[in-house]
Amino acid sequence: MNAKQYEKIIQELSNIIDEGIHIVTEEGKSIVYNQAMANLEKTNREDVIGKPFRVVFSHIPEEESTLLRALKQAESTLNIQQTYLNRYGKEITTVNTTVPILNDYGKVVAALEIAKDITDIKTMSNTILELQREAIPEHKVTAPKIRKYSFKDIIGQNRKLKHQLDIAARASQTDAAVFIYGETGTGKELMAQSIHFNSNRKDKPFLAQNCAALPESLLEGILFGTARGGFTGAVDRAGLFEQANGGTLLLDEISAMPYELQSKLLRVLQEDYIRRVGGSRDIPIDVRIIATVNETPEELIKNGLLRKDLYYRLNIVNISIPPLRERKDDIATLVEHFLEKHNKRFKKEVWMLSDGALEKLENYDYPGNIRELENFIMSAVSLSDKEHVLTEKFLQMPQEVAMANIQADYNPEEMSIDNYLAYLEVNIIKERMADFGGNISKTAEVLGIKRQTLQHKIKKYQI
Ligand SMILES: Nc1ncnc2c1ncn2[C@@H]1O[C@H](COP(=O)(O)OP(=O)(O)OP(=O)(O)O)[C@@H](O)[C@H]1O
Ligand SMILES: [Mg+2]
Repeated sequence: MNAKQYEKIIQELSNIIDEGIHIVTEEGKSIVYNQAMANLEKTNREDVIGKPFRVVFSHIPEEESTLLRALKQAESTLNIQQTYLNRYGKEITTVNTTVPILNDYGKVVAALEIAKDITDIKTMSNTILELQREAIPEHKVTAPKIRKYSFKDIIGQNRKLKHQLDIAARASQTDAAVFIYGETGTGKELMAQSIHFNSNRKDKPFLAQNCAALPESLLEGILFGTARGGFTGAVDRAGLFEQANGGTLLLDEISAMPYELQSKLLRVLQEDYIRRVGGSRDIPIDVRIIATVNETPEELIKNGLLRKDLYYRLNIVNISIPPLRERKDDIATLVEHFLEKHNKRFKKEVWMLSDGALEKLENYDYPGNIRELENFIMSAVSLSDKEHVLTEKFLQMPQEVAMANIQADYNPEEMSIDNYLAYLEVNIIKERMADFGGNISKTAEVLGIKRQTLQHKIKKYQI
């Protein structure tokens, strides 16, 4: 068989195989680049085949290209898993193997890369895990171990907050749908539970589902249930609507729900019955819906993430929880509450804040809202020893941790543990970066962290 025929075989083979294949010759020209690879990399085959690799893939730094490393240093890279967003923003997970092809004298004549798209496998395995979790007996799902909150747990005297609490308290006496907007950590879950446990549904289930936490394909089945044979392997299972019957269903981050499913939800809410996925029976339901979002509904509608018609149906009662930076007058009371809570937890006796500490807390913006404030207090209490007064030195705001690296004359004995760890982390990163001439990918690999994580740290610590 001559070379031409061999080439034909390779071309045919690469056309029928599901894995992406890319072969580059020693001159750096791509001679095989199959459709599967083009699909994965969202490129056109014609733009790659027969063209110089360095020109076509000029956006990839030379030292980061596994193909070039195989060509130049005869280096193999085996089964490296990569997760990235393709041009359309879809998350793709591949497993790549790149090997040099050597002639009889050990000289590299080409490099071959094979990429296997395991996105579906990954989704499937997540699905299985999720189903296993769901497979716990149903009574466990209907009686989940959640902490029950009620209005008395919502601390704060701020006028705007009080107004919203007043609306919520009134809403709890009705069956109307409630739409809660609030940034992360502002207490949406607290509010939703308070409404439920203050209503005449309080002895019926309160169930919560985060719409962003599940793959699209599963959410529908989880909400509405599945009927046997509805789709491959489906079993008869009641969805959250049935399980929450008579009670309340909290749909967290409803804007993360696929658009199509939002219209199905709207239909259910209008008709008061559901049909399991793949089933034909209409099952009447009586569930109060509380939906939450952490961006303004106007913005979400404008960006096509929330259906307007669904929003109008859910927004019978509208609650908007102000962020902590707009109710700083509540900080002192909240701190008092959290000190008491975490003193008990850590068996400490920190009873008050110094003026400096309060001032520091009041000067911060709290992107993570009350959850973030609580975390500050929790960590301060846990770090304290016998102090009764909490001073500034126990409070580490993120900016300070970031600045830990410039403390040239650091003194581990006097540093808080977070600052000390940050200091060590910064130095390790700096050293490794220097070892690899500032190459982020290589440094991340050696440190055993993702490239994005390293980039995030570099930004955070201003390295
Ligand atoms: N007014 C408040 N008083 C006391 N604790 C609060 C208050 N608001 C929130 N918290 C506490 O802050 C934390 C976050 O609250 P919650 O989970 O209700 O926020 P969320 O708005 O649902 O956040 P996310 O959008 O991230 O889900 C909880 O530990 C909660 O107990
Ligand atoms: Mg929440």
